Amino acid sequence: MRRLAVLTSGGDAPGMNAAIRAVVEEGLHHEIEVMGVQHGFKGLVEGEYIKLGVADVTHAIRRGGTILYSARYPEFKEEAVQKQAIKKMEENGIEGLIVIGGDGSFAGALSLTKLGFPAVGIPGTIDNDIPGTEYTIGFDSAMTAATIAIDNITDTAASHNRTFVVEVMGRNAGDIAIWAGVGTGADAIIIPEEEFFMGDIVRRVRASRQHGKDYSIIVLAEGVMGVEDFIKEYKKEAPEQSVRGVNLSHIQRGGNPTGRDRVFATLMGAKAVDLILHGQSGIYVGIIGEELAVFDIVETLEKVKHKVRDDLYELNRSLTDRY
Ligand code: ADP
Ligand code: F6P
Repeated sequence: MRRLAVLTSGGDAPGMNAAIRAVVEEGLHHEIEVMGVQHGFKGLVEGEYIKLGVADVTHAIRRGGTILYSARYPEFKEEAVQKQAIKKMEENGIEGLIVIGGDGSFAGALSLTKLGFPAVGIPGTIDNDIPGTEYTIGFDSAMTAATIAIDNITDTAASHNRTFVVEVMGRNAGDIAIWAGVGTGADAIIIPEEEFFMGDIVRRVRASRQHGKDYSIIVLAEGVMGVEDFIKEYKKEAPEQSVRGVNLSHIQRGGNPTGRDRVFATLMGAKAVDLILHGQSGIYVGIIGEELAVFDIVETLEKVKHKVRDDLYELNRSLTDRY
């Protein structure tokens, strides 16, 4: 193999650049040329390819977002479009592709593998929702950003003895909500994976106030409902409370990656290159118990379901439950 390509797809995530940098450096180490594909699968089809060298990725490890840009491109589900992409890569002498993104992006990588083109995935999404791996690039940074934002909100919440409902991202997964909620000692964490009862939330908040807590934080995962709708319902049951809502939205998706995101992204980027150079394809690199792990994309996406840390969820419930 002489030339590889790398792209980022789906939502950007802090640490994607660290993975790109590792792919480039590892490629160069093996005397392989690495092409960056801009704008995900759209750029793959349209030939938005740039040669990446050390100078292009020299600051990448510490920067959020993705230097290769990302895009959502539903047209890539069509086989004719996938074949166009392969033709374009072959015309450019590209013999393998590394895809950094979520499970949708992995489906794109897999479609190329099925058509005979080598592709390997790296999990990059703040949602942490990819089956198999315990960790996805960007989750640690997003969870940390949400934690810091909730700390800031807590200053105001306590000063005014208020209840704040903070909506966090995660698409259909509650991971960011759980980690940011546990990390800030939230009174309640509401996630799509667990049923909740408004009466129970109100009871918990009232009980914690009676025991001396001077503010309340409810962390709401976006996959459950929007913060405004939640507050309308909440206020019906707790008219005595001063309640405010904040949607952290894209504030939690940008910013410099944490050290953990950088290190895991670097490990996975280098490993993805080694795997593709050894003829592997249709797989993705992930993390289990702090160690690199390799997953078959078909087997994993079809048979494994992402599981949130329900032990942490339950811990928070019991720690903050007072009668
Ligand atoms: P994520 O990768 O974060 O899950 P999306 O679900 O938006 O994000 O997928 C990102 C991109 O991957 C899509 O815009 C599309 O280009 C490609 N993609 C998603 N699903 C498929 C599929 N079933 N087949 C081929 N490509 C896909
Ligand atoms: O997948 C990452 C994510 O930030 C989700 O948490 C969120 O639901 C979605 O992307 C938002 O997408 P967009 O930036 O396209 O609005």
